[in-house]
Amino acid sequence: RPKRFGPAAITALKGQRPIVALTAYTTPMTKLLDPHCDLLLVGDSLGMVLYGLETTVGVTLEMMIAHGQAVMRGAATACVVVDMPFGSYQESKEQAFRNAARILKETGADAVKLEGGAEMAETVSFLVTRGVPVCGHVGLMPQQVNATGYRSQGHTEGEAAKIRRDAEAIGKAGAFAVVVEGTVEPLAREITASIAVPTIGIGASPACDGQILVSDDMLGLFSDFRPRFVKRFADLAPLIAQAAEAYAEEVRSRTFPGPEHTFRRRPGAD
Ligand code: KIV
Ligand code: NA
Repeated sequence: RPKRFGPAAITALKGQRPIVALTAYTTPMTKLLDPHCDLLLVGDSLGMVLYGLETTVGVTLEMMIAHGQAVMRGAATACVVVDMPFGSYQESKEQAFRNAARILKETGADAVKLEGGAEMAETVSFLVTRGVPVCGHVGLMPQQVNATGYRSQGHTEGEAAKIRRDAEAIGKAGAFAVVVEGTVEPLAREITASIAVPTIGIGASPACDGQILVSDDMLGLFSDFRPRFVKRFADLAPLIAQAAEAYAEEVRSRTFPGPEHTFRRRPGAD
């Protein structure tokens, strides 16, 4: 069994080759994605994608741990990172450590990810120096939706300067990589040039050191909304709808199950 990528191996890819990352929430999907990915993120996007929540704000630590465990059962080589959900790390660095330790101990994942800029740098440093590898997440931060809404970032020089400082603070604090979400290309390029660890972009241009997408978005499975940065590499939703329609038709017409799906009594069983 090949060894999984650790956080340090992800960091070492900066300047070597692009980092390939996708989200994963379940064991069977993890088995399909793992051979093609350097990093799999158990993202709190599972709140919308799996649970029908409107935002990630309602996602709980228990949900993240359950799905972290499921992904770890399927991951062979990719580095597995679990999102810390809203409310599980912002209160204090001690709260963040306690909950990050639960995630690592109960799932066996390699690292956690948390959203935030300069205001979270002290927390990132506290975790990293105590044995918790951390991936940062700057730019558009979905857990801040109630404060800021969803909109692409870095259009004004003032906003760009703040996000650049945020990324630099998280990089200096010891994050092994930083997700950059929903930011204009020049800013993503500047951040990528100015921090020592890889940037993993989502809606943040080709200038980043790697890319991540929500798997269900790029597979065409989740379509409640589709941001501009999502490319559909497959369109699976119609295939599932067609299969359900065909099944319903065969049940109603009694053509399924057929003889090949039916158990007969074993001869001489009594
Ligand atoms: O929750 C998530 O899926 C994410 C990524 C898309 C970066 O945070
Ligand atoms: Na997330």
